[in-house]
Amino acid sequence: MILVTGATGNVGKELIKLLVDEGIRFRVLVRDPKKLAAQSDLMEVAIGDLNKPDTLPPAMQGIDKLFFVTPDTKQVTYLLQSAKQAGVKHVIKLSTIEADRSLGPGKWHRQQEELIKSMGFTWTFLRPTMMMVNTIEWWGATIKSQNAVYFPGGNGKVPAVDPHDVASVACAVLTEPGHEGKIYELTGPESFTIGEMVRILTKVLNKPIQYRDVPVFAAAVGMLRFGLPFTLIIGLMQTLGALRRSEYAYVTDSVEKVGKGKPGTFEQWCLHHKEAFQ
Ligand SMILES: NC(=O)c1ccc[n+]([C@@H]2O[C@H](COP(=O)([O-])OP(=O)(O)OC[C@H]3O[C@@H](n4cnc5c(N)ncnc54)[C@H](OP(=O)(O)O)[C@@H]3O)[C@@H](O)[C@H]2O)c1
Repeated sequence: MILVTGATGNVGKELIKLLVDEGIRFRVLVRDPKKLAAQSDLMEVAIGDLNKPDTLPPAMQGIDKLFFVTPDTKQVTYLLQSAKQAGVKHVIKLSTIEADRSLGPGKWHRQQEELIKSMGFTWTFLRPTMMMVNTIEWWGATIKSQNAVYFPGGNGKVPAVDPHDVASVACAVLTEPGHEGKIYELTGPESFTIGEMVRILTKVLNKPIQYRDVPVFAAAVGMLRFGLPFTLIIGLMQTLGALRRSEYAYVTDSVEKVGKGKPGTFEQWCLHHKEAFQ
């Protein structure tokens, strides 16, 4: 039996739809079942909270494959301890492409990957690059209010990936043999600068949108004012530096090979989500 956590999030909500389409029986662990994007007899619902370890054992009963997305080390520790006690064999972690060299938040993801290995689980790590959905959170409000995008991206390139494609790889890993001990770096089909992504949004939304390249220092001050923890801001500054230098501009074929479909383009994703910017 499969347990999907984060089932109401960007990747999880796509994953549960794919599992239902495949006719696979599985269980979700959620805080609020009303937030689930799919209902099916194939899906068992366990109510639980990753911050409350006592709520995890009932969700783990009979599970052999666990998929999780949380980057929070305390939650990951509770989850893995509970999984071990329940006899879970295979852990599939949504990590990040930056875990390859412990860059930015990749540092915590890499530590969690090592913890999974040291606990003796069979493992598969999915390492996506920037997900397309971030553009809603980062740019949605100012596109709506000012027809502008403020972002410290410089001329760096990134092949943003559709969360649906990350989910299609997760679905394959959860339902097929042969993915044990594998790391999949997941990207979209094409690298773009932030300016190029904004031009695609301009075309799809049919209105002019300005891209303003914010100095990195100003972005850090903004995050501090927003209340983000200092260690996270330092990590995000490393991520931005790598983006500005196009260090993760390479495209991989993992979505196509493992997820068995061509990765979606940024333009297609924008067309499907344009209401979020209007
Ligand atoms: N965004 C990117 O560009 C990017 C790139 C690479 C890697 N990643 C990694 O992807 C992961 C996030 O994945 P995502 O975007 O799919 O997730 P997400 O949309 O942020 O959703 C988080 C999920 O976790 C659940 N959750 C949060 N706190 C919980 C708790 N205490 N107990 C139970 N469930 C809880 C949420 O449920 P509720 O609905 O109840 O809140 C939701 O389903 C992170 O590890 C991040 O580092 C992201």
